[in-house]
Amino acid sequence: MGLISSTQAVPETSAVPQHVAIIMDGNGRWATRRHLPRTAGHAKGVQAVRRVVEGCGRLGVRYLTLFAFSSENWRRPAEEVSLLMRLFVQALEREVDKLDGQGVRLRVVGDLTPFEPRLRDLIEQAQARTAHNDRLHLSICANYGGRWDVLQATRRMLAENPQLAQHPDGIDEATLSRYLSMAWAPEPDLFIRTGGEQRISNYLIWQLAYTELYFTDRYWPDFGAAELEAAFEWYRTRERRFGRTSAQLGKR
Ligand code: IPE
Ligand code: IPE
Ligand code: MG
Repeated sequence: MGLISSTQAVPETSAVPQHVAIIMDGNGRWATRRHLPRTAGHAKGVQAVRRVVEGCGRLGVRYLTLFAFSSENWRRPAEEVSLLMRLFVQALEREVDKLDGQGVRLRVVGDLTPFEPRLRDLIEQAQARTAHNDRLHLSICANYGGRWDVLQATRRMLAENPQLAQHPDGIDEATLSRYLSMAWAPEPDLFIRTGGEQRISNYLIWQLAYTELYFTDRYWPDFGAAELEAAFEWYRTRERRFGRTSAQLGKR
């Protein structure tokens, strides 16, 4: 499913993005502005996740991918990291029933080995519990890094096909992309970053090759259905050329 590479063939596009990838940024600044601890912003951010999952389901998005914790976020103060882990556990304990009821298939993407066994068990249970769903594919990137993804893909590809090391010409984009951690999803159509920064922060670096990039100053805890719809509206005005000219698209 979804293995058409945007650099190998021109993918089909539609008015509503099929795959939306979000960097949920600005929780800390949202809280600091209110003289609250940064952690209050993270707690508030969980509510925004609910709104966006609901909005995407309603608007007909098929894949929603959220950056929750990057491979670089371990550099934060230990208390903040452990609060984030606690929130993650809590969200899995409290939200999975509802997600299942909404037809959401949940997956957690990233290097899960450093997580505590309790968290890993909950992740496994949530994934198994929702595996039969197909309405909205929700992926949470946790201890995820785009470079990690390309590296783990390369390692697994070579481990499973040792002959490729002797014949590297046999490796093409399709070969490698089969081993990326989200190989089951099409490449994102729309990327959204809240919080005002205009950078990728080691998110889905391979998969974002032809994604439309949308940045908003709005902090993540203030993001909701209206902001999501504004991003989709902007997306509708984009001309996705994939290397071709405007005239070739048959417009104007
Ligand atoms: C995003 O908000 C949440 C995570 C990275 C876990 P931040 O915590 O980065 O918020 P700012 O950027 O400091 O405001
Ligand atoms: C990116 O946000 C990661 C997540 C939202 C999980 P950061 O706030 O960590 O990104 P940088 O460090 O400002 O680039
Ligand atoms: Mg940030």
